[in-house]
Amino acid sequence: MDKIRIVGGNELKGTIPISGAKNAALPLMIASLLTEEKLILENVPRLADVALLQRILGNHGVDITTNGKRNGDDPYAGQTLEIDARVIVDTIAPYELVSKMRASFWVVGPLLARMGVAKVSLPGGCAIGTRPVDFHLDALRALGADIEIDAGYVLAKAPRGLTGARIVFPKVSVGATHTALMAAALARGESVIENAAREPEIVDVADCLIKMGARIEGAGTSTIRIEGVPRLKAARHAVLPDRIETGTYAMATAMTGGDVMLAGARPDLLEDALETLRHAGAEIDATNEGIRVRRNGAGILPVEVSTAPYPGFPTDLQAQLMALMTKAKGRSRITETIFENRFMHVQELARLGARIHLDGDTAVVEGVERLTGAPVMATDLRASVSLVIAGLAAEGETMVQRVYHLDRGFEKLEEKLSRCGAEIERISG
Ligand code: UD1
Repeated sequence: MDKIRIVGGNELKGTIPISGAKNAALPLMIASLLTEEKLILENVPRLADVALLQRILGNHGVDITTNGKRNGDDPYAGQTLEIDARVIVDTIAPYELVSKMRASFWVVGPLLARMGVAKVSLPGGCAIGTRPVDFHLDALRALGADIEIDAGYVLAKAPRGLTGARIVFPKVSVGATHTALMAAALARGESVIENAAREPEIVDVADCLIKMGARIEGAGTSTIRIEGVPRLKAARHAVLPDRIETGTYAMATAMTGGDVMLAGARPDLLEDALETLRHAGAEIDATNEGIRVRRNGAGILPVEVSTAPYPGFPTDLQAQLMALMTKAKGRSRITETIFENRFMHVQELARLGARIHLDGDTAVVEGVERLTGAPVMATDLRASVSLVIAGLAAEGETMVQRVYHLDRGFEKLEEKLSRCGAEIERISG
């Protein structure tokens, strides 16, 4: 298993290109199941999760071609996928594949809407909490599907197609909003989704569906209206920039000090996180090229933050912010409201000398003067990158094990950081 070795202490200086958003690329690829015509997606990041979803879609009969790299191409440019789901050979998504990545459960909506049947494994346990799928299933039931659960599989049927309905989510869910949106796009009549997730990735998927001929209004607000259409058509769409990758490198820069341009990043996608970083003492400027982050001389100031659905502070940046706060001048409080048990990074950060005390869903972080390098273990995607951030500012060597978690969501992480002056390398093993 590969490891990442970091020797901390260097400031970050230079440019980091921001990749396409993983959390938009995955549902966009799944949306290809809604049409017999070709969906072309540009700016797709090269990530393990994307490759895995290619396999899962391939299992349903979807044909995906990836453009090759030409000489002179920007090595950080995203890939273009041509996705052809003309023939669906299989409406079953097996446990062996779905259990590896939760978002692959989301094939249930499009398969059901287009084929009238889907058999999809329940995603199973997850390191960051129980993460059930009840909202997804309730939404499909509201659209007229017959749902049974048998031997770990969801069997969804709607032989005469889905019918538009009012769907009211009891709690904001990104995944369930994707499911409802994609299924309602091909349902007969009008659907209204209330308490919908407002995340930019929902808007990106809705924009792509609209290019495919769907009739959708209100994506990005809590109420989305969809007028179902009988079929969707070919489209071309570029994935929006990854706001979590953006926030991660912004925090890394705030941590080490220095001056970094996050090229291609869009500040409007993460205003709350950027405001938090300003409070923490970073200088943030939006430019034509992207977002410039600086911290010169001044120390890191403590903050109080609660995670919340968009436009609030994202749970996917909680671990990274905590890493930054380990070196703040004073006491920070970070409350996690979206997922229970999303504090696995606390123990690992403590191995580097961080002082963090857990009080229910709140982590109280007492900033320390110095962190010292140590071997640590990546436990999930965002937690693992928080260890990288801490390692960049720790004295001596930090060795991060189980980096396959990082490869799920961060493209060329070591390269992007080392070209800004970090001492970081992958050790294959
Ligand atoms: C997505 C993101 C993930 C992010 C999360 C919250 C992708 C691929 N993943 O995950 O990175 O951390 O949003 O912003 O986009 N819930 C239920 N029942 C359900 C569905 C969800 O109770 O049927 C609960 C969850 O346990 C959680 C909350 O709702 O407490 C929000 O989860 P949700 O927004 O659905 O997360 P995901 O879509 O899985």
